[in-house]
Amino acid sequence: MLSGSYHTFFITTMGCQMNEYDSDVVAQMLTGAGLVRVYDPKTADIILVNTCVVRAKPEHKAYSSLGRMSVIKRKRPDVIMGVLGCMAQKSGGDLIKKFPLLDLVIGPREIGSIMDFIEGVLINRKKIVAISLEPMPSSYNKCSGYFNGRVTGYISIMQGCNNFCSYCIVPFVRGREVCRSPNDILSEAKQLVSEGIKEITLLGQNVNSYCWKDNKKKGFPSLLRKLAAIKGLLRLRFTTSHPKDLSNELIRCFAEIDNLCPHLHLPFQAGSNSVLENMRRGYTREWYLDLILKLREICPDITITSDVMVGFPGESAKDFDMTLDLVETARFDSLFSFKYSDRDGTLAKQMGNKIDEGEKARRLRILQDLQRNITIRKNRALEGKCLEVLVEGSSKKGKLSTGRTKGNKIVNFTINNNNNNSLGELINVLIKDSSANSLSGEAVDC
Ligand code: 5AD
Ligand code: SF4
Repeated sequence: MLSGSYHTFFITTMGCQMNEYDSDVVAQMLTGAGLVRVYDPKTADIILVNTCVVRAKPEHKAYSSLGRMSVIKRKRPDVIMGVLGCMAQKSGGDLIKKFPLLDLVIGPREIGSIMDFIEGVLINRKKIVAISLEPMPSSYNKCSGYFNGRVTGYISIMQGCNNFCSYCIVPFVRGREVCRSPNDILSEAKQLVSEGIKEITLLGQNVNSYCWKDNKKKGFPSLLRKLAAIKGLLRLRFTTSHPKDLSNELIRCFAEIDNLCPHLHLPFQAGSNSVLENMRRGYTREWYLDLILKLREICPDITITSDVMVGFPGESAKDFDMTLDLVETARFDSLFSFKYSDRDGTLAKQMGNKIDEGEKARRLRILQDLQRNITIRKNRALEGKCLEVLVEGSSKKGKLSTGRTKGNKIVNFTINNNNNNSLGELINVLIKDSSANSLSGEAVDC
């Protein structure tokens, strides 16, 4: 229990699922120490901002958020205010120069000690900057009851990345790859299932290169098989995969493991071989497209989603056409697309031939229009089909339930049989309508 009048905390998260997971870990530790989570920073004794710096846009959003939090602290100087995650790692003590009211700056590998840091601030009334990349990812003390009402959860199986794609800041802010032990992961998964979690998503910057103690036999496919066998675990997912490390053995898992959801997020980043080479991605467009064919051959129903960037330094109009062409050919179920932005410390930042912001925006619009049409068509093709959905919740009015298909598509649906208490169950939904963002339908027996 913390000393003094520190009872409540607020945590806001910007960025990827990895950040969401880290915020969950922090929230669980603070809850375990007797603090109560609140959702309005004005009522919190401890305010934490967990942020992403992979692209320039989320970084700017985080600065605005810190500005707003500083206004609160100015009115209530006893509030403890901290920054967590990649932004803390990237900027370290400079953040305190920029936001002098900050008390804590904690990098992603240091969050396991957050309680000690908070107590340190309270006792010594000194600011703490903890950004070592040395600590190993550890198992966290979960407190029971945390997942109350939730049926899906995340587990981080590894930290960091060794790939150094030329545009990417991740290896600098999350460090080199370090994997957690299979036993550690397994016991966390069992605990989640015992608390009512039905679907687990394994997280890592590049889960395909998961490996325990350099033992190839203890790689990712073997971890998947162990986790999938946990009784009561209805669904297993993972993200993210680097195309160059997607092994045949892993592809076979989709056909062989019943509760492994047939969805793969496989970022391609660019459709032109020369851009791919400058990005240091380690594959060609032909190799990537072959991989997609192979995946669909082995698992015809697989949903494939991807990430792509426009306006990488030197990307010509022809290069961009190759990206459009790849998108037409691959027919992704959905695509996250971004304008390239310079990140400190990366090779790409040093490259010449930067693309003008207006041109990047134009390319992004064209790409997003193309993908939107593909997504709409793919979703429309599901109308009239009966799909298995995990019931994850209901809308505020309680009339519509919501969940996702195995392929990770959001479905809003009605349940007519008075049995509205299907939370956490797999049910069949007849798809009646669709849009670019979701499907809708009715629960049926089929
Ligand atoms: N600029 C724009 N997008 C980037 N991403 C990573 N680094 C950058 C950058 N410097 C995108 C990639 C990655 C996703 C998480 O963010 O597409 O897959
Ligand atoms: Fe960044 Fe490349 Fe690692 Fe992905 S694989 S986190 S893009 S360096």
